[in-house]
Parts: sequence; structure tokens; C-alpha cells
Amino acid sequence: MQIITIAATKGGVGKTTLATALATAALVARPGIRVGLVDLDPQGSLTDWWNRRDKREPQLLRQPEGDFRFDTAGARAAGFDLIVIDCPPGFSDILADAIATADLVLIPTGPSMIDLDAIEWAETLAETFSMTRHFVLNQAIYRSRLAGRAVRELSERGHLLRQVVHHRVAIAEAMRKGLTAIEAEPTGAAARELAALWAEVGALLGRVP
Ligand SMILES: Nc1ncnc2c1ncn2[C@@H]1O[C@H](COP(=O)(O)OP(=O)(O)OP(=O)(O)O)[C@@H](O)[C@H]1O
Ligand SMILES: [Mg+2]
Repeated sequence: MQIITIAATKGGVGKTTLATALATAALVARPGIRVGLVDLDPQGSLTDWWNRRDKREPQLLRQPEGDFRFDTAGARAAGFDLIVIDCPPGFSDILADAIATADLVLIPTGPSMIDLDAIEWAETLAETFSMTRHFVLNQAIYRSRLAGRAVRELSERGHLLRQVVHHRVAIAEAMRKGLTAIEAEPTGAAARELAALWAEVGALLGRVP
């Protein structure tokens, strides 16, 4: 079993969106694997998304009321192959625990100056947990100068995944319906980007995606 934690102290950068996208992309890439989603955010956005779905996969691993520590041993015993953990914004013990338990931590960020300023915390966390900073640039405007600058800056500050996720209406629209763009518009540009992101993430995890 491998665990991906999606972590960013900044709010609204796409943590929940990318958690849903990676989990569904993993299922499309390898049908039959057991993928679990974990919502450690008291806001419950991931749980709300899952409740809007009429599909049971990826499975939502419900946390006991008020408990935001993920039960890794329980998930392993239950036979999951892949777990994707969605974290709340801000610094917290919840975030620290989720990072400590992960095989891979992905740090989504938007392309703006404010977004990039907010990833300084990643330096501190990376030192504390001896982890590589794997950045995912999300909500980039296609071919914008802002996105180009963000790619350069993030490449200097850590490992930026090659696949940029652009701002796409299909991504937000699908979320409203309890789907991801991969499911709602499988031949669209958003789905292509998210599938390519999963291929890259899968390779980082050392598994054939
Ligand atoms: N690539 C994208 N294109 C278009 N809309 C996006 C994209 N990524 C995220 N969004 C939208 O941006 C908003 C914030 O995304 P999301 O909820 O995933 O962020 P978050 O980091 O989980 O936020 P929070 O910190 O509140 O948990 C949502 O409305 C989502 O639909
Ligand atoms: Mg969220």
C-alpha cells in the first residue's frame, strides 16, 4: 500500500480537487486496484464531494468522529493499494501526522505571487520531515507569463512536476457533480492533464501507472 498526502498550508490551491483527480486517475489507469480517499479536513469538502457521487470507487475511508489521525495499519489490513489523503489548510498536527505517514507528499500551489510566497513553509516542513518538495502547479492560466514565472520559481525551490494543471472549467464543473474531469469529460484537455499528472505521480511512487 502506498500513501500520497496532498498538503499545502494555503487554502483554495486545489488540494481536494487534486486528491479526487489522482484517486480516479489511478483507477482508470489500473482498473481493479483498491484506492481509498481520506478526508482529514474538518471542513469535509472531500466527504461532501464523495457524498454527491453515485459511484463507490474510489472508496472513502471515514474517520471516527473528531479523529483526524489516519489509521494506516487498518487500511493496510483492509487491502488497499493506494491511499490519497486530503489535508486541511494551515499548520496543524493533522498536517504533520499526514505528512509523516506518507510515501509521497504533493504540494499544490497556484501561480500567483501570493500563492508562491505561501510555500515558504514547505522549506521548514521539508527539513522537519526530510522530505522532497514535490510541487504541483495548479490553476495556471494557459500560456500566461504568470504561469511561466511560477514554473521557473518552483523549479528552483524544489521538484516541480512537469505536468502543469491549468485552470479549466471542466475541473470545477465536475467537482460540483461529485465527479472528476477524468470521469465527466474523459476526452477533454483537463482529463488529459490529470491523467498525465497521475502517470508522473505513479512513476514517482515507483509503480507502473
Ligand atoms: N485546475 C482547476 N481549474 C479550475 N478550478 C479549479 C482547479 N483547481 C481547483 N479549482 C477550484 O478551486 C476551488 C478550490 O479548490 P479546492 O477546494 O480543491 O482547494 P483546497 O486547497 O482543497 O481548498 P481548502 O484549503 O479550502 O481545502 C474549488 O472551487 C475548485 O473547484
Ligand atoms: Mg480542501
